[in-house]
Amino acid sequence: MSVRSELLKLFEARRGEYISGESIALSLGVSRAAVWKAVKSLKEEGYPIDGVPNRGYRLSAASDLLSEEAVRLTLRHQIPLTVYGETDSTLKRCSILALEGAGNGTAVIADSQTAGRGRLGRSFYSPPGKGLYLSMVLRADFDMSRSVLITVAACAAAAQAIEAVTGITPDIKWVNDLYLNGKKICGILCEALTDFESGQITAVIPGIGINCRPQEFPEELRGKAGWIPASFSRNELAAELIDRMLEITENIEDRSFMDYYRAHSMVVGKEISVRKINQEPFPARALAVDNDGGLVIRHGDGREETLTTGEVSIRIK
Ligand code: BTN
Repeated sequence: MSVRSELLKLFEARRGEYISGESIALSLGVSRAAVWKAVKSLKEEGYPIDGVPNRGYRLSAASDLLSEEAVRLTLRHQIPLTVYGETDSTLKRCSILALEGAGNGTAVIADSQTAGRGRLGRSFYSPPGKGLYLSMVLRADFDMSRSVLITVAACAAAAQAIEAVTGITPDIKWVNDLYLNGKKICGILCEALTDFESGQITAVIPGIGINCRPQEFPEELRGKAGWIPASFSRNELAAELIDRMLEITENIEDRSFMDYYRAHSMVVGKEISVRKINQEPFPARALAVDNDGGLVIRHGDGREETLTTGEVSIRIK
């Protein structure tokens, strides 16, 4: 590990605290000059670090930069992790890693994305400093018939991670959006790599985008998108998300997350409008989320149907 990285780890573990140059040099086993050089390079990266004679250096408690070092401080799983300031799309980065053989749990995080992908071919607004954009490679014995269940599991994991870190409980809109006070704060898109010959899924790649900080949204999102109104660390949220995602998907067959998902559903019991791809929207009543993650609806004529595909969007009336 580089001096810069060791120093960042130390600062993140002792945020808001002055640490003398001498004790940093001692604990990192390097010279004072090397410490000074590493502090300078962290400052150039944008870390709010101040130095006071006779007290030492301090990383401001308000520092909000994402880093591998800070995520690993609270991360319980040992996984390969890459944190970008900016990338095109963490989903794309993870797909490439998965094709190259990356193992279960490999995660990619970005502070901003230039080509964030959303559901139904839409783009996902991903400005710098405001959100958390995370994708993972999940390797397990999944098959295509489980795609909605995996999406539901990923959604429950994201909601639980947000609740654990921010103290705020989001509402879940089937199949995989999280809302607060009627505004979307998190979107999830699960992609998969399949083996053409066997038809088996070789990797599932959930991509999660969370609006963490107050922001001006572009015109088309205004009034529809929101953020989490709490003070919390994006690094801690990233660690919790990765841990929960791994724990939930490792035990996917026990469906233990379904109770949480149902309890926080903002759709069940409501009159909704359903739009299937390339079809006119129709009204229905949302009755339940079944054990495989499907949404059971009742049409106006009393007919019941279970929606199971991601190529459906619903609106609550
Ligand atoms: C949606 O609401 O339409 C799903 C949005 C999913 C966005 C996330 S952000 C991290 C990951 N990388 C992407 O390009 N998309 C997903």
